[in-house]
Amino acid sequence: MRMRFLIAGLCLTTAGITGTALAAEEPIIIKFSHVVATDTPKGKAAEEFKKLAEERTHGRVKVEVYPNSQLYKDKEELEALQLGSVQMLAPSLAKFGPLGVREFEVFDLPYLFDSYDDLHKVTAGPVGKQLMAKLDSKGIIGLAFWDNGFKVMTDNKPLREPADFRGQKMRIQSSKVLDAQFRALGAIPQVMAFSEVYQALQTGVVDGTENTPSNVYTQRMNEVQKYLTLSNHGYIGYAVIVNKKFWEGLPADIRTTLEGAMRDATTYGNEIAKKENDDALEKIKAAGKTEFITLTPEQKADWKKALSKVHKQQESRIGKDLIQAIYQATGNTM
Ligand code: LMR
Repeated sequence: MRMRFLIAGLCLTTAGITGTALAAEEPIIIKFSHVVATDTPKGKAAEEFKKLAEERTHGRVKVEVYPNSQLYKDKEELEALQLGSVQMLAPSLAKFGPLGVREFEVFDLPYLFDSYDDLHKVTAGPVGKQLMAKLDSKGIIGLAFWDNGFKVMTDNKPLREPADFRGQKMRIQSSKVLDAQFRALGAIPQVMAFSEVYQALQTGVVDGTENTPSNVYTQRMNEVQKYLTLSNHGYIGYAVIVNKKFWEGLPADIRTTLEGAMRDATTYGNEIAKKENDDALEKIKAAGKTEFITLTPEQKADWKKALSKVHKQQESRIGKDLIQAIYQATGNTM
């Protein structure tokens, strides 16, 4: 009898050791969910992060990238991050309002930035740091700003003058600044998840939208939009964010390695963003379904005039000081 207990005990101990050894070898999984196609600036930067993170941690970390809203749509993904169902996201800066971080919507102000250089003066400077710090109280850490690019307008009617927007139903991201932008033009903005835009344009639920060329092309929006105005009136970029509890719970050496991988993936992504969008424009042109509209200097001035009031209007929402700090960093004003 005693012998039987002894053997059983021995087996249990052996099983215990083997179990622990196996558990120690299990990789740390980072689920990285996003809503765009892989063949976009964000999609490619996410793949680059995965590659660098897995190589440099020698497989101790596995990054599972889920593109194209495969796991979660816009609003759901932020909830999933806070719940810890995913560990990493890169939502557009226009989507942090529902989380209670309104200041990120400053990036949506029309004509705030003239170039990627202007942008980097903000994202890589003290303002960028201050903005990321706002996420902390939400259980989120901001790791990096990733570029997409400057927006075009698409519609089934030509949009040349502000008056052309009157009564047009336009899909927007969930940003109050974007809502104000379209209202200033006399259009009717409608918040909608990115994954639903193609169908909404196809079925006429909305008449038009704004986005970067890479998003327009990879979602095939150009196939269901007759006109594209080369307006460059605003910017889309991302904050790469992680669940704070998860990130702070990582072994310190792993976290440091991942921070390095994120730095390098950011450099890579921000270097390719402009070309990705320029190439997408060429592909939209080559597809031949959409007529391009280039604004005359007078039309451009009319757009700016119609939209300038949005900056002042939004001071109470996003903070006058923040807007001023960006003017100062870029040298632009409205
Ligand atoms: C959109 O919803 O239009 C964009 O934010 C999608 C994205 O992530 O680029």
